[in-house]
Amino acid sequence: AAHMGADLEKVLITEDEIRARLQELAAEIWAEYDGKDLLLVGVLKGAVMVMADLSRALPGTAPMDWMAVSSYGSGTKSSGVVRILKDLDTDITGKHVLIVEDIVDSGLTLSWIKSNLESRNPASVEICTLLRKPEAAKVEIDVKWVGFDIPNEFVVGYGLDYAEQYRNLRDVGTLAPHVYS
Ligand code: PRP
Ligand code: MN
Ligand code: MG
Repeated sequence: AAHMGADLEKVLITEDEIRARLQELAAEIWAEYDGKDLLLVGVLKGAVMVMADLSRALPGTAPMDWMAVSSYGSGTKSSGVVRILKDLDTDITGKHVLIVEDIVDSGLTLSWIKSNLESRNPASVEICTLLRKPEAAKVEIDVKWVGFDIPNEFVVGYGLDYAEQYRNLRDVGTLAPHVYS
């Protein structure tokens, strides 16, 4: 472990901005699902921080479940072909599923997960993501709640990693060039 400050190039979104935006999203989400059988589904590992803070910003209780997936192939980019490493523990039949994600980049991961969950006869499947990169989209995907649209740059922090590091950074930012070399 080492200090992270020197590795950051710039902060794009601060901890405070994230907290405030998640509070807004939580209110909208609660208005939509109040009285419905809501299940929060987080996608490991990036979504851990968003799930923790978004769920606690909800004014009422909702169960959470987790999936872990992996893209086939050895590349660092999503291929769109996804393998389930850890499936949900829950039967989602009849449930209103809200997928909670840290980022929609190409959209390939979420697109696959959404179709997969829709095939299990839930009452509905929607997506809430903290970040989205509109310029990186490779597939059209309907994302109901977006925290922030960001430029097509590699970002870390608040759950997002570079080689598994920086997930525990409180802000979202870009890395200094020396980190990659
Ligand atoms: C990242 C991110 C999203 C996905 C977005 O996860 O957390 O889940 O990629 O990419 P896409 O829109 O191009 O499909 P990653 O596969 O790095 O796993 P992690 O969450 O464990 O970091
Ligand atoms: Mn992820
Ligand atoms: Mg990752």
